[in-house]
Amino acid sequence: MTRVLILNGSPRKKGNTFFLIQELSKFIFEEGHEAEILHLNDYDIKPCQGCFWCYKDYPLKCIQNDVMNGLYPSVLDSDVIVFASPIYWFNYSAQLKLFIDRLVALHVPGGHSLAGHKFACIFIYGDSSAESSGVYTAIDSINHMIRYFGGENLGVVHGTGGDKLTISGKPDVIKELKDLAEKIISV
Ligand SMILES: Cc1cc2nc3c(=O)[nH]c(=O)nc-3n(C[C@H](O)[C@H](O)[C@H](O)COP(=O)(O)O)c2cc1C
Repeated sequence: MTRVLILNGSPRKKGNTFFLIQELSKFIFEEGHEAEILHLNDYDIKPCQGCFWCYKDYPLKCIQNDVMNGLYPSVLDSDVIVFASPIYWFNYSAQLKLFIDRLVALHVPGGHSLAGHKFACIFIYGDSSAESSGVYTAIDSINHMIRYFGGENLGVVHGTGGDKLTISGKPDVIKELKDLAEKIISV
């Protein structure tokens, strides 16, 4: 059984990012696997303070005793982590960035706990063109991080959304999502 952790970087629970998250998790459950969704906007995640306390004895937690210390076990227990976010100002959202920065606390001597981990991404933008939306900056940034971890990106699904829910009417994007879901559950 594959355990999938989906990080929702969108504040909109009726938006396009969340629509694709729901489609993905429906498929995961139907196929007998597990999905946990973290709505990052609902959590008061403090910004990383760059103190490197987490490097001293590698406790796999943060000196800032906020909600993140309770979320690290979900990260470590997952088989696949899905980064899902709207594109805000040519990159993924601040909600997701706060979470990602705090992954620094999962370093272990000589590397990172997420070495060998599998990842996937869902990105939504308002622009009708992927090129000018900034999505490729977000993908590039995530890929740098995955390479740093020594992990693997199983794939990225992205498409044009906007303030209205329009992604639900895009069969090509839904098909790409199903294909990615197949890869996710077969890790
Ligand atoms: C603060 C902000 C910044 C945005 N910046 C971009 C951008 O750089 N490129 C883009 O294509 N769309 C941008 N958008 C549009 C959103 O990506 C788009 O509305 C998307 O559908 C939101 O996802 P959601 O439906 O899951 O909320 C921005 C929207 C907001 C609110």
